[in-house]
Amino acid sequence: MDRVSKDQLHYLLLKTHSLTGLVPIGAYLCVHLSVNSLRTVGVLPYQLSIDAINNLPFLIWIETIFIYIPLLFHSFMGFYLSKNARYNLARYRYPRNGLYTLQRLSGAVVFVFLVYHVGTTVVPKWTNGKHLFEAAPFLIEIMNMEFQTWTGRIIYLIGIASAAFHFANGLWGFCISWGLVVGVRAQRNAALAFSLVGVVLTVMGLATVFEFSVHPESTVPTIAGVFSGKGGG
Ligand code: HEM
Repeated sequence: MDRVSKDQLHYLLLKTHSLTGLVPIGAYLCVHLSVNSLRTVGVLPYQLSIDAINNLPFLIWIETIFIYIPLLFHSFMGFYLSKNARYNLARYRYPRNGLYTLQRLSGAVVFVFLVYHVGTTVVPKWTNGKHLFEAAPFLIEIMNMEFQTWTGRIIYLIGIASAAFHFANGLWGFCISWGLVVGVRAQRNAALAFSLVGVVLTVMGLATVFEFSVHPESTVPTIAGVFSGKGGG
């Protein structure tokens, strides 16, 4: 078999970068913000959803394979592409040119936000040994505290809006680069549809932040007694 040339490898990495932005990362973002928005219905539905996730068998493997590895690949490849991109916003002031720059900027903001977000939720959960049904009350308390300050609310406002923009604008780029949307009119309609996706994700995320901010409610584990080894998977 012939060896893969440098150009072929570059093309393959570009396509993998583009695809991982949609699945699993984009899909995860939609599911994650939807599940979090259960908090607007009540603390119990939200707690049950966290229970379901934290009782999954092989959770650490699922998260590593479907979230962390694609996320790290997409992020580092994104930084590499941004470093080698040709920015010409000062010369050509087209809206699409501005969006090209914003796509790279929002990616960097989301990366910083994620280091903070995972570092203040998942990391303390693991280091404090909060597994199974103990995870939800612990994480809910962290969120309650986070949203009692304006700093916390603003960090999440920026993180959610940047992630929603990066995903929605990325969807448009994905459709163009994979040849799914051809023609000026189709591209304009796609831009409108994806803008709506971005707005819906942002509103869902901010509604969750609002609910945590105005009704911080603590909970106890849904099923008591599982930590003494009597059940819970
Ligand atoms: C309303 C806003 C948000 C809330 C309340 C929230 C809440 C949470 C919670 C509680 C966890 C820990 C889950 C667990 O360990 O069981 C988590 C993990 C995570 N969140 Fe968020 N999140 C929000 C927004 C976001 C956004 C905008 C992104 C993407 C940029 C994001 C990406 C992640 C990732 C990648 C993880 C780690 C996944 C895992 O290990 O399960 N989150 N989030």
